[in-house]
Amino acid sequence: MIKKSRILIALLGGLASLVLVSGAHAAKVGDPVAGEMQAGLCGGCHGGDGNSPDATFPRLAGQYEMYIVKQIRDFQKGHRANNDTMAGMAAMVASLQDAKDIGSYFAAQKMAKKPLVPVDKKLAAEGKKLFYEGNPKTGVYGCVNCHGDRGKGKAPNIAVFPRIGGQHRDYIIKQLKDFKSGARANDPAGMMGDIAKKLSDREVNAAANYLSAQLP
Ligand code: HEC
Ligand code: HEC
Repeated sequence: MIKKSRILIALLGGLASLVLVSGAHAAKVGDPVAGEMQAGLCGGCHGGDGNSPDATFPRLAGQYEMYIVKQIRDFQKGHRANNDTMAGMAAMVASLQDAKDIGSYFAAQKMAKKPLVPVDKKLAAEGKKLFYEGNPKTGVYGCVNCHGDRGKGKAPNIAVFPRIGGQHRDYIIKQLKDFKSGARANDPAGMMGDIAKKLSDREVNAAANYLSAQLP
């Protein structure tokens, strides 16, 4: 009996390491050095180091690798259909590994410390309250629950929730409006759309002012 269970344990141990090895293979992470070369294609709009100088183009510096990969794939497949220019650019990323390499390059860059436009302090204070407490009257759940403290995300392995703290104000406003109108609908289970639909224009503006000030 003892012998049998020992064999079983040994077998299970072997199986576990096999799963680990193949798991590691399937989940091969990006190579930032390879990614830097390819990211040249993206830098014209997003900035060479992912700190774009224009709010039309989101900051990618410090964003989670797997979130970047998901967005590239969503643009490629038409799941994210709120920008034709970016869809065209995503079509030029040839493979999943290329997307991971580019994603890991931008993820490793440091976000610039300045916002593009001055922050409205009053709106930012309202935005902070909304971010942490939500709006019980309209049933809006606090953003912090998914996007983490100051919108800095939860962890690289929970990249389903992007880092939004320090993102450009006007890019955030556009995304919230796109989620609200349904122009962007690539969020898992519609969870971001459900929230955006409950936000007033003032709340959108307030959240964007608060978030754009959450720099490194
Ligand atoms: C010609 C300009 C342009 C170029 C070049 C470009 N993009 Fe974009 N990208 C955009 C625009 C515009 C958006 C925002 C779309 C929107 O309004 O939702 C965007 C959005 C993105 C997003 C979504 C970010 C987020 O926070 O959700 C990712 C990821 C991205 N681009 C990656 C890339 C990569 C990788 C490349 C290079 C292969 C690239 N882009 C090249 C214009 C560009
Ligand atoms: C239940 C979880 C959840 C909550 C709560 C939540 N979000 Fe999100 N949010 C998401 C997910 C998931 C995405 C990414 C969707 C995707 O995969 O493209 C997202 C995306 C976003 C984006 C787009 C980021 C980008 O780079 O394009 C913005 C902006 C945003 N959320 C703002 C907010 C604000 C402001 C609040 C609070 C009012 C909020 N979110 C609350 C889950 C949530």
